[in-house]
Amino acid sequence: MACCVLGVILVLAAFMALPGQAGNGASLTVETELALAGKGYYYRAWGDSCYSCIYCHANIDEDKLDDGYWRPGSSLWNSAARTSYYNGAYSGEGILPLARSVNTCVVAFLQTDALNLGDERMQALLAYIRSISPDDTASPVKITRATKAPEMDGDPRRGEKLFAASCVLCHRDKGILPKLGFKADSALVLAKIRGMKVPDNAKGEFEDGYPPMPFFSMERLSDQQVADILAHWDYMSFIQEQAIQGEIAPEESAVEMLIDTTDAEAESHKDTPAEAEPAAKDH
Ligand code: HEC
Ligand code: HEC
Repeated sequence: MACCVLGVILVLAAFMALPGQAGNGASLTVETELALAGKGYYYRAWGDSCYSCIYCHANIDEDKLDDGYWRPGSSLWNSAARTSYYNGAYSGEGILPLARSVNTCVVAFLQTDALNLGDERMQALLAYIRSISPDDTASPVKITRATKAPEMDGDPRRGEKLFAASCVLCHRDKGILPKLGFKADSALVLAKIRGMKVPDNAKGEFEDGYPPMPFFSMERLSDQQVADILAHWDYMSFIQEQAIQGEIAPEESAVEMLIDTTDAEAESHKDTPAEAEPAAKDH
């Protein structure tokens, strides 16, 4: 291990010379070419899993731009300007802390061997990340793991939008994963979103053999947002359940039930004023 780290540092010294030579047109071109190759590695799956970086990390300034998705990992915009990663697990000057952070995801999510700094893919990825880091300094990202279920109620309408932004990038038709069928227990859904222990006997819907799902930190999805997603999930499960029952008793389809409820409510509202008076007199 020690000799491997030394090798990495030596290659690093050679590699770090590149961006420093800004006055030299030739090295700028090398840097640009590397960055372009790195963009390819950012978008393309090349490990043993089907993941690429873009599934989990935006490459834009999320404070100003929106590409329609809200991913589990923080945006890597300006990330080369940070000097501390993973809550301080990797920190210091130079490119090494960033390279180690990249490797953490390469191993955990792309599911392939860590890349040493001399590896063409690592060089290219780092060049690309530098190319999307315009500032000299940037504050570290905070990553807080949730340890318990949200305590507030959720709003299924907000949850539907959050679900579309945060879940369907991976879970969709012809995506890297099957679409979610709203059949899993919500305790399992919560455990998946937060990266918590899956409760024993929780009902799921997927077969084994997929890479791990990344967790969403409290900074990426607040407790309220998770509550909203779970409320959307429960609502969709309910609709699903009604539809399944509908196969047995077609007259009780979800749509008809909803219409029935609306009518019943309208009826009861009509009756309310008349009923209100006698009820009040009883006391
Ligand atoms: C399956 C999801 C997933 C994939 C794929 C993935 N990452 Fe990550 N990555 C995460 C999560 C989750 C974190 C920690 C939470 C956060 O960044 O907010 C993280 C953290 C990082 C960090 C540290 C951020 C910081 O400032 O602390 C870097 C750098 C990084 N990833 C780079 C990459 C690169 C480059 C790739 C592609 C080779 C990649 N990741 C692929 C999920 C992923
Ligand atoms: C970066 C890709 C990615 C994103 C984004 C993502 N998931 Fe997943 N999810 C996975 C993978 C991979 C699996 C299968 C492996 C596993 O269970 O860990 C999975 C599994 C699941 C399961 C378990 C299915 C079962 O029954 O076994 C649920 C539920 C789930 N995801 C819900 C969500 C929700 C809700 C969101 C949005 C908040 C979301 N996922 C976002 C990748 C993702």
